[in-house]
Amino acid sequence: MAWLSRKKQAEPEIDPANIPRHVAVIMDGNGRWAQQRGLPRTAGHSAGSETFRKAADTLARLGVEAFTVYAFSTENWKRPPEEVSAIMGLLDKYLHEAVRDMREKNIRLYFWGDTSPLSPSLRTLIEETQKISESTSGMRVNVCLNYGGRDELTRACRALAQQCEDGALKAADITGEMLENRLYSAGVSDPDLLIRPGGERRISNFLLWQLAYTEFVFSDVLWPDFGEKEILSAIAEYQRRKRRYGGIG
Ligand code: FPP
Repeated sequence: MAWLSRKKQAEPEIDPANIPRHVAVIMDGNGRWAQQRGLPRTAGHSAGSETFRKAADTLARLGVEAFTVYAFSTENWKRPPEEVSAIMGLLDKYLHEAVRDMREKNIRLYFWGDTSPLSPSLRTLIEETQKISESTSGMRVNVCLNYGGRDELTRACRALAQQCEDGALKAADITGEMLENRLYSAGVSDPDLLIRPGGERRISNFLLWQLAYTEFVFSDVLWPDFGEKEILSAIAEYQRRKRRYGGIG
């Protein structure tokens, strides 16, 4: 029984009454994980997509309401074409599985970003998952795909400016809420917790508006190695934070 108590000690204590409603993750470190093993970078993305599936299961089990991941940024097109197509292939595989499993798992799947340059097959799968999401009610998974925070804000500003140009809105009447309603995240509460594995400590053009009061947890563990233990310790770290939202608490 000694291993049982050891295991118990190693598991971070989580307060079930203070689970973050919305968790966002920058899935960083896939390339280095592969390189450390003498594998092509694409093997790291493949391992990273498995970690994503497991993380979604863990977070759903804990009662998290929304899980947002950075899968492909507006800047990631600069990567070698074989790496871009490997990531698109992994998304295609995940979407096929999602169409098959999301009713049983009761998850809702949404895509944040400009999906118009994606392949017709990916876009069809995305549409299918959106339809299924109308009949499921569980955790919402937001996959940021061809997403950039600056691009998202630029589009929202353009939409509001167009309304002003059409005479439907006065610039002086624009509110933060109006801008929020034009973001991909409209209607979804801001992330409570952002996890960035992989050792870097930057935001990388992710959810620039939505992360205003989010708690950040950085980790040196590379994303493919970011298992349940790491998720639980990030949540435990979040639970030790005192959120003040600019006040004095
Ligand atoms: C960042 O690591 C990771 C990416 C740019 C791609 C993430 C994509 C996946 C995990 C696969 C598809 C996603 C889903 C949701 C099925 P990096 O390549 O920048 O790592 P490095 O910093 O070590 O080079």
